[in-house]
Amino acid sequence: MKADVKTRGEAQANGGASAVRGVAVVTGGRRGIGQAICVELASAGFDIAVVDLRDDETAQEAVKLVEEQGQRALLLQLDISQTSDYASFLDKVETGLGPVNCLINNAGIQVPERGDLLEVSEESFDRLIDVNLRGTFFLTQAVAKRMVAREGAPDNRSIVFITSANAHLVSPEKGPYCISKAGLSMASQQYALRLAEHGIGVYEIRPGLIMTDMTADVFERYSPQIESGAICAIRRWGQPQDIARGIATLVTGGMPFSTGDVYNIGGGMQIPRL
Ligand code: NAI
Repeated sequence: MKADVKTRGEAQANGGASAVRGVAVVTGGRRGIGQAICVELASAGFDIAVVDLRDDETAQEAVKLVEEQGQRALLLQLDISQTSDYASFLDKVETGLGPVNCLINNAGIQVPERGDLLEVSEESFDRLIDVNLRGTFFLTQAVAKRMVAREGAPDNRSIVFITSANAHLVSPEKGPYCISKAGLSMASQQYALRLAEHGIGVYEIRPGLIMTDMTADVFERYSPQIESGAICAIRRWGQPQDIARGIATLVTGGMPFSTGDVYNIGGGMQIPRL
């Protein structure tokens, strides 16, 4: 089945910017990095299932932005930690848009309050793991099973895990978050190995500091350090579009000989220094 991997890359690389890409599911697609991914993938030719815990004005805006790119958008409410909801959710995506050939595991939560590792509550730990790791793992399993069942399907199929620089960098003040993202990094590699024979590319994206609502509470604290070059080599906050563009490159076949790889997008934040 190695030939599948080869043809996957060749077929994707031959697609133009206006190629029909199929259907992408973007979890946490309502705002921030997820919304930017929805728009970028729509501009690359995907129809988009915008999936989120919440349905509000911001979510409707995400739908509008996708439609402005000339693609179809379907907004679906789902708590990714609720595994029993996956089957009906995926049925709705398939009925509304068609079979899924791209899954972007973007939804994630941060610790409610940064604080001492020695004071982390079981409740906070469990919620972080349920959403960021357990939910993402099992949603991926559900989507992957459907992808595998569609043998003979178009070969531009991919799964992306948005982890974090904290999959590697240790922040004891947000321990459960770091642990969930480190686990997700392993899950990405597990799925890459399992799905390669089916021609499904799996990629991990590790964002650095990206300016979104999630990082609003540390904006004042980190901005001077970013500007001085103490945190990352490129002295600015990352923008959601920085992540979205990298993902679009991967899921449209820009890296045909890559799977299970880690892509750091953080302005050089991961470079060890003295
Ligand atoms: P955000 O908080 O702005 O957006 C996250 C979205 O996910 C929200 O729309 C939220 O409603 C949704 N969501 C939360 N829990 C959910 C659930 N259980 N089911 C479905 N949807 C849910 O976050 P941001 O900054 O856009 O982050 C997106 C991803 O990137 C997250 O996984 C985050 O951990 C990761 N990341 C973000 C970084 C940053 O600097 N902003 C850095 C590294 C990683």
